[in-house]
Amino acid sequence: MSEQDELQTPEPRPHERLLSRKTLLKAVAAAGAAPLLLGAGTALARDRRGTGLAPELTPDCDDGDHPTVPQTEGPYFKPNSPLRTSLVTASTPGTRLTVSGYVFGSACLPIANVLLDFWQADTNGAYDNTGFAFRGHQFTNAQGAFSLSTIVPGLYPGRTRHIHVKVQAPNRPVLTTQLYFPGEPRNSTDTIFDARLLMNVRQIGSGKEGTFDFVLNVPQTPNPSPSPTGTTSPSPSPTPGGGSWTPGTNYRAGDRVTYGGASYQCLQAHTAMVGWEPPNVPALWRRL
Ligand SMILES: [Fe+2]
Repeated sequence: MSEQDELQTPEPRPHERLLSRKTLLKAVAAAGAAPLLLGAGTALARDRRGTGLAPELTPDCDDGDHPTVPQTEGPYFKPNSPLRTSLVTASTPGTRLTVSGYVFGSACLPIANVLLDFWQADTNGAYDNTGFAFRGHQFTNAQGAFSLSTIVPGLYPGRTRHIHVKVQAPNRPVLTTQLYFPGEPRNSTDTIFDARLLMNVRQIGSGKEGTFDFVLNVPQTPNPSPSPTGTTSPSPSPTPGGGSWTPGTNYRAGDRVTYGGASYQCLQAHTAMVGWEPPNVPALWRRL
């Protein structure tokens, strides 16, 4: 794999009005839409909830909202991809996949007009290096949201299943990274794989729906009406006693741990690493 390069991007667009996470949550709640949990930082927790309960309105911005980690660009990036949110047609082979989410800045405010440039392998694990199949860029809307219609990428030698993406807020550096799928056997052997980049993926009919929120290191003015100090997230220090989340432990699906005063259940087997604490990796841990 080659080192990551700077992306030749289209002209950035100016910021639009930013919508605070709480305002967004309240708007979603008022509209009766599905619960939208934004506090998990990396992937959205909304898919795993499905409880019908009102969303938590006091997610804390520093509760796992570390900037999304960068990854190698790999050898198959091509600049000047088409502007499009769908990489498929009715006849495209492969399992349909929608990837959606939000892009946030350092104060947990959604960012509009963020460039997202996706590229991936086809269902057979091949990249199109002559044309632009399975390549496309788009921009987040005024709410900081994006949505990509594609297929589940095929596997190719040496890698687990993944989607490449470059993310660039207006007038900011490019974040080059990759998104991963839970439950892939090769996740445990791919040295590039990082659980912090796991999407939440669920089956929808014959297709799949993945969600992921990016957090960029973009300075923002915090919400002028922040939560009182007492409503902030739990301490990041593990809860004393047996069952605390511990780096280096080989967890199995179903295992339960405590972390920061909360209980979590393991969703897929993995070896715990610093940075993969339960609030950071909702695809690995479900809060109980
Ligand atoms: Fe790749």
